Amino acid sequence: MMDLHAFCYFLSGIIFSGLAHGLDITSTGPRSTEKASGDSVTLDCDFTLAPEDSGHLDIEWSLMASDNQNLDKVIILFSGGRVYEDYYPAIKGRMHFSSLDPKDGNASVNLTRLEVSDTGTYQCKVKKAPGIGSRKIFLSVMVRPSRPRCIKEGQAQEGKDLVLRCLSAEGTHPLQYTWERTSDGKLLPTNAVLDSVSGIMTIRNASASASGTYRCTAKNRVGADECVLHLRITPC
Ligand SMILES: *[C@@H]1O[C@H](CO)[C@@H](O)[C@H](O)[C@H]1NC(C)=O
Ligand SMILES: *[C@@H]1O[C@H](CO)[C@@H](O)[C@H](O)[C@H]1NC(C)=O
Ligand SMILES: *[C@@H]1O[C@H](CO)[C@@H](O)[C@H](O)[C@H]1NC(C)=O
Repeated sequence: MMDLHAFCYFLSGIIFSGLAHGLDITSTGPRSTEKASGDSVTLDCDFTLAPEDSGHLDIEWSLMASDNQNLDKVIILFSGGRVYEDYYPAIKGRMHFSSLDPKDGNASVNLTRLEVSDTGTYQCKVKKAPGIGSRKIFLSVMVRPSRPRCIKEGQAQEGKDLVLRCLSAEGTHPLQYTWERTSDGKLLPTNAVLDSVSGIMTIRNASASASGTYRCTAKNRVGADECVLHLRITPC
């Protein structure tokens, strides 16, 4: 015996498979993607047609409005076998169909020289009457951390407290900082305290054995960069 849930599922399967002919968007990749500014991204939109989809083929990519006060912005259009791309000034010249012939089933686009302001939901809409299909992809563009500066504050003298700072001037938050020691057994001094948010490492009551080479890495979701600091603790 099937229980009610299984039965409903079975029934909806029949109904959906009953409707699922005609134009179909077949891309199955992620619905959201994160990229660094300056990079490029491919937004996938593969489709298949059915024999009854006999109308005129239109493919439209738009940036969806982030609130209901605004309208979706058309970026690029393929219609009547031609590409039109003079719609949205902020992206003009940066979005291109990946395929030379999108009508063969690949409506994916490549968006180049990404900017933080490109962040948003993109929609691919394919129409060939009576077929119609669409797909949305959320794109988040972030700035990589710039090369951090490693700075020593205070006197590097035995018995003194010492502050090592690490800071990237740019980079989309949250940034995470880590300090490592690249010399002398790679162990941080036992009295070192790290703050991964501020990038500050404090070494209390520094001893000569804290001398060595340290590396700080600044990291966020789209990149990382590092700086190196040579520390020499002088005896008092
Ligand atoms: C469509 O083009 C994109 C970008 O070149 C590619 O990643 C994708 O695999 C292509 N799809 C098919 C079905 O060939
Ligand atoms: C997207 O365009 C950039 C710049 O023209 C190119 O380097 C990159 O290979 C393209 N990517 C794809 C998947 O076509
Ligand atoms: C500092 O470290 C030295 C040994 O390195 C120790 O003898 C001294 O007690 C420490 N001072 C403090 C205030 O912890």
